[in-house]
Amino acid sequence: MKQAFEKKKYAPIGVFDSGVGGLTVAREIMRQLPQERIIYFGDTARVPYGSKSKETIIRYSRQIIHFLENKGVKAIVVACNTASAFALEEIRPEMKMPVIGVVKPGAKVAAATTKNGKIGVIGTEGTIGSQIYTEMIHRHNPDTVVMGKACPLFVPLVEEGWLKDSVTIEVAKRYLASFQESDIDTLILGCTHYPLLRSTIREIMGEGVNLVNPAYETAWGLKRLLEQHQIANDGKSEVNSAMYQFFVSDAAEKFKNFANSILPCEIKEARLIHIEE
Ligand code: DGL
Repeated sequence: MKQAFEKKKYAPIGVFDSGVGGLTVAREIMRQLPQERIIYFGDTARVPYGSKSKETIIRYSRQIIHFLENKGVKAIVVACNTASAFALEEIRPEMKMPVIGVVKPGAKVAAATTKNGKIGVIGTEGTIGSQIYTEMIHRHNPDTVVMGKACPLFVPLVEEGWLKDSVTIEVAKRYLASFQESDIDTLILGCTHYPLLRSTIREIMGEGVNLVNPAYETAWGLKRLLEQHQIANDGKSEVNSAMYQFFVSDAAEKFKNFANSILPCEIKEARLIHIEE
């Protein structure tokens, strides 16, 4: 029994997203929880998730969680706002291990830090349409006004690696125009792809608006979750397999190159798997 428990402690964390966006969360877990191993899955064959139906996202999420469970992970981070919005509560009761999404931690910090009570949220059509951020923010601070804006072109631009391209800046200006007139003091980057556009968004919104990246609070929340379940890695066991492993459903080489441009460590390979099988 004790042995099984010890083994679990040294098992990796499963992290998934529709593509490269969840790497912004993985990066934060690497920073805040350097002892933890990670198995990342990017569903690059089926990205974007943001324009798909709730039923489809639940089906995709179930397949990925099943894959990660088979890899022996001890906890799962849904590093995708769309999957957190559509699938997390549906799937949670079916799971035998702790799971955390990105919406709740991001909503909580925005609700706690806004000074004028006006919060903007940008995300995929799915996330914004679900109203989940408004609901979660109001749970913590009912006196806030929450304004959502779907930015569907951001995900393909990020997946393409056009982080500072003039086309991206133009698109961002259009999407963010409504916020510039609305006096928000906080803007939640409610899609895990968007922190990669942070400097463009910062330039347009100015220094007066606090940009919330839910990845920070998610990594922090994960730390507490692992401690509560007494499965935090103490770093005392030798690691037999790679600290970080990456799997994708398509375009493995492109993913690997992208990951190497944003992660604090070098990735040797991203392995291709057929998630539908
Ligand atoms: N990065 C994901 C999110 O946070 C999904 C983006 C997409 O695939 O549309 O919502």
